[in-house]
Amino acid sequence: MKAHFNLKTLSGLGKYFKLSNKPPIFLYGKKEFLIDSNNKKFYDFACGSGTTMLGHNINVLNSNIKKNIDRGILHAGPHFITTSHIKFFNQLSKFLKYKFNIFNTATNGSEATETALKLAFHHTKKKKIIYFDGSYHGRTGYSLLSSDMKGVNKNYFYNNNFIKCEFNNINDFKKKFNKHKKDLAAVIIEPIQGTSGFIFSDKKFLKYLYESLKDCPALLIFDETWTGFGKTGYNFAYELYKITPDVLILGKSIGGGLPLGLIAFNKNINHNHTGAQSSTFQGNILSVNNSYNLMKYLNKINYLKKIKKIETFFKKKIKIMNSYDFVISFKGIGSMWGIEIDNKFFNEEDFTNKIRSLLLENGLITWECGKNSEVIGLVPPLCVSNKSLQDALNIILKIFNVLEKKYN
Ligand SMILES: Cc1ncc(COP(=O)(O)O)c(C=O)c1O
Repeated sequence: MKAHFNLKTLSGLGKYFKLSNKPPIFLYGKKEFLIDSNNKKFYDFACGSGTTMLGHNINVLNSNIKKNIDRGILHAGPHFITTSHIKFFNQLSKFLKYKFNIFNTATNGSEATETALKLAFHHTKKKKIIYFDGSYHGRTGYSLLSSDMKGVNKNYFYNNNFIKCEFNNINDFKKKFNKHKKDLAAVIIEPIQGTSGFIFSDKKFLKYLYESLKDCPALLIFDETWTGFGKTGYNFAYELYKITPDVLILGKSIGGGLPLGLIAFNKNINHNHTGAQSSTFQGNILSVNNSYNLMKYLNKINYLKKIKKIETFFKKKIKIMNSYDFVISFKGIGSMWGIEIDNKFFNEEDFTNKIRSLLLENGLITWECGKNSEVIGLVPPLCVSNKSLQDALNIILKIFNVLEKKYN
C-alpha cells in the first residue's frame, strides 16, 4: 500500500517508525502474528505495547465485540452506569480478590495514574508524593512528575512536592520518608519496573514501604499497568510479592487491546471528591465489555499455566543469551523478558535500537525498554506456540551471530 505522506514525519512528537525507513504497514493480525500490506508475516513480541495479551484476532473477543456493537450503545459518557459496567466491576472484583471494592475507570494508564494521585491528595489533604528512579507512570502531568523517565520533557516537569528515592534502597527511602511524612500523600511504585527494562523490587524493600505506610495516612500505590493480568505468571505482581497496596493502577492488558485504565481501592479511602477527575471516554462500553470477556476467558483456560510455559522456555535460553559478549543480561519473569545490550561493545549509544531494526527486518517485533533504551523487550502473547517461540529465538540468534562475527 502506498502512503501519500511522509511516514517518518507523520508525527514529530511521537517516536513512530524510528526502526525503519520503510516501516511495515500492518493489514491484519492472527494470534501471535501481524501481517503487513506486502503479506510479510511478523512475530509480534511487543503485543501492542503490552496490551493484546491474548494475541490478535481472537475469536472469543471478536465475537463479543461484534455482539456489543449490535446492542447499539458505543458510549454513554463518564457519568452513567450501564449493565456492561456492572458485569465488568463484578467480574473484576472476583479477579482481583483481596480488599479492592471501589473502581474508577480511565482511558489508559496515564489517566489512571492521574486519578490515583488525585485520590491520594484529596484523601490525605497532603501534597507530597514519593516516587522512584527508573519509574515510568505515563506522559501526562502528575503521571510524568512521578516518573523518573521523563525523557525530553524533563526540563518542563519539575515540582518539589514530588520526591525521588532510589529504587530498592531502604536507607534512602527511610531518610526521605521521615523527612517528608507529615506532608506525604502517597508513595507510588511499580513492583516490577517495566519500561526501564524489567527491574524487580526486592521483597524486603516493598515490605519496608508497606510497613512504613501502615501507620501513616499516605497511600501505597502500586502501578501494575504493565505487570497486571498475568505478565508475571501471577494475576498481579502484588500476589507475587504478597503485599497488597492501598491503591492499584491498571492499564494495558486490562482492555484486551482496547483503551482502558482503572484504579481499584478499598471503600475506607475517602473518595467523595466531586470534580477531582473525569474524562469523556473513561470506561468506554466496548472497552469494559472486552475486559469482562477477557477475564471470563482467562478464568476458563487456566491462563497462568500458559504463561509459566513461556517463562520455562525463556529460562532455558538464559545460558545461550548470556554467551554473547555484548549481552549484559537476559532476565524476566512470566511472559515479560528483556535482553540488556552493552552499547559500549559497539561504540554506539543507541545500538540496541539498531539491533531491534535488524530483528524487525527479519520479522520479529520487539518492545523498546531500558533506562536508555538498552533493553530488547520480548513480550509474546499467551497464545504463542512453542514453534513461534523457537522461531523468534532463532531470528535473535541469527542476528546476534552476525553481530558477533562483525564486531569481534
Ligand atoms: C507502569 C506504567 N504505568 C503507566 C503507563 C502509562 O500508560 P499509558 O501509556 O496507557 O497512558 C505505562 C506505559 O507504559 C506503564 O508501563
